[in-house]
Formats: sequence, C-alpha cells, structure tokens
Amino acid sequence: MTSVVHKPIRHDSAAKHVAGTARYIDDLPEPEGLLHAALCLSDRAHAKILSIDLSAALALPGVAAAITVQDVPGDPDIAPVIKGEPVLAKGVVEFHGQPVAAIAATDLATARRAARLVRVTYEDLPAILSIEEALDKQSLLMPPLGLKRGDAAGAIARAPHKLSGELRLGGQDHFYLEGQVSIAEPREDGDMMMRCSTQHPSEVQKLVARVLGRPMHAVTVECRRMGGGFGGKETQAAQFACIAALLALRTGRPVKLRLDRDEDMITTGKRHDFLVRYDVGFDDAGRILGYDLMLAARGGWAADLTGAIVDRAVFHADSSYYLPDVTITGYGCKTNTVSNTAFRGFGGPQGMAATEYVIDEIARHLDRDPLEVRLANLYGRDDRNVTPYFQTIRDNILPELFDEILASSDYKKRRQEIDTFNAQSPHVKKGLAITPVKFGISFTTTFLNQAGALVLIYEDGSVQINHGGTEMGQGLYVKVAQVVAETLGVALDKIRITATRTDKVPNTSATAASSGADLNGKAAEHAALDLRGRLAQVAAPLLGVPAEQIVFRDDMVSGGGKALPFAEVAHKAWLARVSLAASGFYATPDIHFDRASGRGNPFYYFAYGVAATEAIVDCFTGEYRFTRADLLHDCGNSLNPAIDLGQVEGGYVQGLGWLTMEELWWDDRGRLRTHAPSTYKIPTARDLPADFRVKLVHGRANPAQTVYRSKAVGEPPFMLAISGWLALKDAIAAAAGTSLVHLDAPATPERVLLAIEAAKRQAKAPTTMAAK
Ligand code: MTE
Ligand code: HPA
Ligand code: MOS
Repeated sequence: MTSVVHKPIRHDSAAKHVAGTARYIDDLPEPEGLLHAALCLSDRAHAKILSIDLSAALALPGVAAAITVQDVPGDPDIAPVIKGEPVLAKGVVEFHGQPVAAIAATDLATARRAARLVRVTYEDLPAILSIEEALDKQSLLMPPLGLKRGDAAGAIARAPHKLSGELRLGGQDHFYLEGQVSIAEPREDGDMMMRCSTQHPSEVQKLVARVLGRPMHAVTVECRRMGGGFGGKETQAAQFACIAALLALRTGRPVKLRLDRDEDMITTGKRHDFLVRYDVGFDDAGRILGYDLMLAARGGWAADLTGAIVDRAVFHADSSYYLPDVTITGYGCKTNTVSNTAFRGFGGPQGMAATEYVIDEIARHLDRDPLEVRLANLYGRDDRNVTPYFQTIRDNILPELFDEILASSDYKKRRQEIDTFNAQSPHVKKGLAITPVKFGISFTTTFLNQAGALVLIYEDGSVQINHGGTEMGQGLYVKVAQVVAETLGVALDKIRITATRTDKVPNTSATAASSGADLNGKAAEHAALDLRGRLAQVAAPLLGVPAEQIVFRDDMVSGGGKALPFAEVAHKAWLARVSLAASGFYATPDIHFDRASGRGNPFYYFAYGVAATEAIVDCFTGEYRFTRADLLHDCGNSLNPAIDLGQVEGGYVQGLGWLTMEELWWDDRGRLRTHAPSTYKIPTARDLPADFRVKLVHGRANPAQTVYRSKAVGEPPFMLAISGWLALKDAIAAAAGTSLVHLDAPATPERVLLAIEAAKRQAKAPTTMAAK
C-alpha cells in the first residue's frame, strides 16, 4: 500500500489558480528600468525585403531600441531541427505575420505605436498557400516518411470491395490562456537571466545563447508555470525569448515581450491541417485487406517540428487496427503560412482520425454498424498484433475496454433507440459512435527520452525538488512531488516544489510527448532512492538493524521495532557529514527507430482508451449538441487519479473543439482572418456533453517498468473526441437517408448543414452512387 502516490491529490496550485494568485510571467514584479517590447510583422505572404527604415520608430519619444536581424550579434538561426529559421526575417518574408523588426520602449503603448512606424518595402514573390499546391510543386520541408508492409496495391486490386476518397482535417490554435511571454534581464559579466513561459527551458537557454553569441552557461532560464502550453510552447516560445534577450543586450535594461492575443494567433504556429487521400480494399465483414494512405500536412514556411509530427501521424494511422498489406506516406508541405508546430497529440490525432473515418466509410458502404467493422479490424492480442512499423503490441487491452464500454454505455439498446427516434423524427436526428485510442508513448526522436532531477534534503528534514519538467497546468509538479514523498516516506507537505531552472538541471528535453511524469518522475525517484540509501546507512546503527531492513514511511524511519523521525535522521546525517543532495537521471530503455527502413520500436508502451459519444443535430440549421459521452481511459496505476481525470476530460473537450468548432481561415493573400475569440470559437463549459461520464482504468499496472507502473495521460484522451465527430457523421447519414456522407473537420454547424444537403443530392443521383 502506498500512502502518497495513486491518491487523488489536488494540483499544488489549485487554490492559487482559483483565487487568481498563482503568478504567471506577466504577474511578476517588474524589475527596475523594465522596457516593453513590440513586434513589426510582415504584411506579405512571400516577398523580398528591399529596405527597412527604423528612423520614424526610433524618433518616437520613449523608444529605447529598434532591431532587425542585422543587429543579432550571434547566429540568428533558431531552428530546432532543420536549419533556416531566422529569429527576425532575413532578406525575405515567408508568411503574413512574420516578425521583421522589434522595438523596446518605456511603455507598451509606445512600443506598439513605434512598431507600426517601421517602414518596410517589399517586392512580392509567388506564394504557395495550400497543401494541394505544395504537393503539385513538390514544395516539401523534408523527405516523406513511408511505411510499407506487403503489397497494398495488389491487395486492394484483389479485394471484393474497394473505396477511395479524400478528407480534410483542419488545424487548431493552442489558445493557451497565457500567451507567449518572456522577460530578459541582463546580469553581471554579460549573463542573461530569462523568465519565460516555455515547455522547453533548455532549448530557450541554448537559442538565447546562440543569438547573443554567448556560451550556454551565460544564460539561465526559469519557468515556474505556464498558463497552458499544449505544444505551442515546445519550440515556439524561443523566438520571443530571443527577441527579448536581444533587446535587453542592446539596451542593457530588462525587457518584457508579451504578445497580445491577435498577434499571438497570427505569428505562432498551430496544429497542422492535413489533406488525406486513401485507397482501401476490404472483405464482406469490412476487414481491411489492403490500405494505401497519403497524409499531407501543412507545415508552413519552416520545418520547426513538422518532420516529427508527420512521423507521429504516420505511426498513428493504424489507429487501433491491424493493416495486413499497407503503405502509409506522410508529407510535410512547405507553404507561405505560419510555421505549424506541436499540438497535443503531435500529428497522432490526424493520423488516427483519417483511418477512423475510413473505417466509418467501409461500414456505411457495407451497410454495417461501424462498431462491428472496428471490432473486426481491431489488433489481436497474440496475432494480428504487429504495427506497420513492425513493433509488436504486447499489452493490448482494447478488447476488454470495448466490452466494458459496450456494457456501461448501454450501446446496443441505445443504438436501437436512436434508430427508432430517427425513423420518427424528420428534422432532428441523433447519431452515436464508439472509437478507440491507442497512443504510443515516447518521443519518436529517441535521444529526447531522457530526464534529470535534483533532490535536496535540508537538515530539518524538509525536502526541495527540482527537475527538467515544466508545469503547464497538467499536474506534473504534484505528481513528481508525490513520487519523492512516497520514496522518502514523508508527507507531501514536507516537499517543496521549485520552479524549473536550467542552472539546477541541465540539458533537459521539452515537457512534451506526454512523457513529463514518466521521465522526470523516474529521474526524481532515482535521486530520492539514492538519498534514502544514504539515510538508511545513517539510521542502521541507530536502529540496530541492517540498512536493507529499514522502512521509510509516515515521516518515520523504522526497523527492528524502533522508529526515528525522518527529520532526526536527516539532522544526524548532516552531523555525520553525509551529502543530502542527489541528482537523478533516467533514459527510457528498449526504444529505437530507423527512419530509412521504417522499422523499429519507437514506443516504450501504448496508452489506451475508448469513447462513446452521442450527438443530436438540427437538420434545418446544422446546429448540434453532444447529449452524452462515455469515456473509458487507461492510466495504468495512475499516479494521481484526480489529476488524470482532469486530463481526460480536458483532452476530450479540446479534441471536440478541434474536430467540431475551431475553424482557422486564411484569405487568398495568406492572411489569417480568425485571430481572436470573436471569430475563433473554442469550447466552453456550455459545450460539454450534457451527460458526461468519465471513467479511468486505474489499478491496472503498466506492464512496462514505468514510475509506479503509471501511464502517460497528457495527450491520449484528446483522440477520444473522434467519436464525437463520427457521431455527427452518423446523424447526417440518418438525416440524408444515405450512407454517402462526406464530412471534413472541423464539422462546424455550417459544414454539417452542407454535408446533409450534399448527401441528399447524391442520394437522388444514382449514377454518382454507382461511381463511388
Ligand atoms: N494540460 C494542461 N492543463 N495544460 C497543457 O498545456 N498540455 C498537454 C497535456 N496536458 C497541457 C495539458 C500536452 S500537449 C502534453 S504533451 C502534456 O500535457 C505534457 O505534460 P506531461 O508530459 O507532464 O503529461
Ligand atoms: N512528441 C512531442 N514532441 C516531440 C516529439 C514527439 O514525439 N518528438 C520531438 N518533439
Ligand atoms: Mo505536447 S504536443 O507533446 O507538447
């Protein structure tokens, strides 16, 4: 029995979040002499820069500095993976909204006014704005990733049934409540202290050092918490941190750069929108025999993380199904739009949504319940269990999860009730869908799967912990504190969680890929075990038992029928000159992937889930509501079921937002026209399913040797929302009286209405039906 881990303990900052006293970067007391920064953004999608005139901006009273890429003393390239991403536009602008110049002034209004006084002259160049055009012109950011097993084309040709089609999946703005923000403060000897809202302090440190032309030891980055990251601060916090640091270096004064919402939406990357093309061959039961899938992502002007995101999309295009003869190809398209980036699921949702859609199409073609077709294709436990990248799935619990959700959601009965309802209701239709989730855990870039921690015990018995993971609301800090408290056998309130800092733990990975607790929890556990071992050596002679027999629990150190308070043992260790500081390290074992051959074991394990969502659609307007959702999500032995429940609920609702209501719209000049909540709608509390039933699979140990046998939970539940989108498709099919429904995402009310109309027209035209 554990006493701290596996318990539903609330977020360490929960009370402060609610009271509004948790400090974010913009809430920190402002340092003496602080300047405020603003950006001048490109107003062309693709153009040569002929000249930049800063004189009018500099002449404005209160302006302390104005810089362009020419003023970067070090290397201006801040690309995370593939070179070619200057911190400020260099010679050309490659999207509408790209930062061209930056201003620092004594107050924010002056800085923003000055930014508008920067005069830039351009010579327009042809711009590629769409995925189709990029594919036609072979405008790619990196070589495609192809997975291939057997002979997909041959299997499709021989199959009794075939379908082919195209699908579009939209992008998504992160809409973190706290936008991108950094404060740079020059310190002695050319050092720079950065406080930054970032998922990746070490990379901000590296890139600030790079643009300043300084070694990494001269830059320190601190992040206590973010007001949400969702992937948007994995790489893209760095640019704004670097600009703040450049202005601080130039002026010798502290500089704060905080984007406003419109700027943040215009100039930062989003979830990649995808174009999907498929050919599939299947048998009478709907079992896939051959599958050829093309996934093309809109990468935007620069590579950023697009390569890894397309890879993850390709890895998840099997969804939860065995694909015998298969070819999957993923393209990262270069377009003159903002550079898209990590967003919860990291391409996984797009890959999975594509194949869930295809499964739905197969079922409708055969006039079967999509559930049957899902079950017919589901990965087996002992056979049909090898992925298209040749990783064997060893821990498949989906068959059981399906059994459980079919019972708990009362699926069969409700399916019948809905069919009866639809038969009697001409203009309001209901839909229902069940979809599974299988999400691979680990960074697919293998070397990133490492973490470090620093645990300090003070001689009064209190403990301070630090690790490379960052807190963005997901509850990582409390989870790691629970692990350390459990390991040392002390109460959680004995542990002080400190801000993530690059001078405490070096060379860390981004908090991403849902792996924050897996990696940092293990690193902290290793440090705590090390310290516990030292304390046991101190306690052994006092208790008169061998060190191995000593138990740490309930703030006591006991053995041989005797017990000493933990604090006393810590004090004795200090007197005995035993070090009470330990660093811990962890690297995930057993993972590897070879991109050239498309083979390997990129994932340490998988996290699973299933969801059943019901929707009701008004066929006159296309408006809809989600009437009920039943979610079942696998957390292994959850480190903290309260936090994990929040992650499952939040992930699902954010996924529903992506697939149903959040619509990004660019005009024909490449301008984003949806850059504020007035035109871009994210889900609110009112959009929750009316009857929302969320259950964790908790207490089913992860067969992989993770920290306390827990499973990562940050991203996987996002994809449970695919059931909501397909419930809408189900309702549309009922409305149109045909199985031929095309439904791109986001399925906004407008798109739902158009889909109903289009399907009705098709149903009346039998020739088009035969052609399908
Ligand atoms: N939850 C909250 N509240 N805020 C966030 O920004 N980010 C998500 C997820 N859950 C996020 C969140 C993303 S994209 C990831 S990768 C994980 O949290 C990262 O944290 P973890 O690895 O500690 O789960
Ligand atoms: N997930 C999230 N972030 C990443 C990954 C990944 O697989 N690889 C590199 N950055
Ligand atoms: Mo999450 S998209 O891996 O930051």
